[in-house]
Amino acid sequence: MDVKWKIPVIIAVIILLLATLIIILVLLHNNRNKGWDELVETKEYKLSEPVKKGDMSLEEAISNRRSIRTYSEGKIGERDLSQLLWAAQGITDEAEGLRTAPSAGALYPLEIHVAIAAVEGLEAGLYKYDPSGHSLLLKKNGDIREDIYNAALRQDSIKDAAAVIIYCAVFERTAARYKDRAAQYVYIETGHSAQNVYLQAEALNLGTVAIGAFDDEGIKEVLDLPKGEEPVYLMPIGKKP
Ligand SMILES: Cc1cc2nc3c(=O)[nH]c(=O)nc-3n(C[C@H](O)[C@H](O)[C@H](O)COP(=O)(O)O)c2cc1C
Repeated sequence: MDVKWKIPVIIAVIILLLATLIIILVLLHNNRNKGWDELVETKEYKLSEPVKKGDMSLEEAISNRRSIRTYSEGKIGERDLSQLLWAAQGITDEAEGLRTAPSAGALYPLEIHVAIAAVEGLEAGLYKYDPSGHSLLLKKNGDIREDIYNAALRQDSIKDAAAVIIYCAVFERTAARYKDRAAQYVYIETGHSAQNVYLQAEALNLGTVAIGAFDDEGIKEVLDLPKGEEPVYLMPIGKKP
């Protein structure tokens, strides 16, 4: 080959090789992430059957309820977490699929995520509550309290919690029927559910506080929320000091 053609041909071959290498690396990276997601999403933990009778009367729970922001160290029981999640969104009418908290048009826009750090029998990680199976789906391994704490304006209650319940909502589910009244319906509904958690925590002698002050984008990023799902409320849970 003529010498004057050699250099451009070598450069073209190098560019082609580099481009191929980059494409292979991108494909490998995408496949690896996809594989990991699918792997953890299939891990499901069946929660204990919730109890329907307790030692504390409803009146006592209402009367004693307070927002508790500091917690003592130590794990909470799996039964406690099961009970709290049931109180939040558990199914109480199997035939109709109706839940513990009322919902406009029974459309159920709330999605409950839980960051677990110290719960007996459950590994630390980010989970999603599935009301239909009363189970938890593992989304991400590891203790993510620090990330939630940073997104929630560094409120200490998050850092010390055994678990953090994260209320999210798919507003479109309610908007499809109720149009521009959807936002207020979703927020009202979140309040109904969160009050159940407050009272259930009191009945279990656990502490919690409803947290509305956080950076939406920060929480979305930490939870890797799908498009259309928005964070609404956080409830750290822990043993009373
Ligand atoms: C919509 C809403 C948002 C709140 N946000 C926060 C919060 O970001 N951080 C916090 O520590 N408490 C928060 N709280 C809890 C209130 O501070 C608490 O309910 C109030 O001080 C009354 O105390 P009590 O719940 O013990 O009766 C919030 C409460 C509501 C209803």
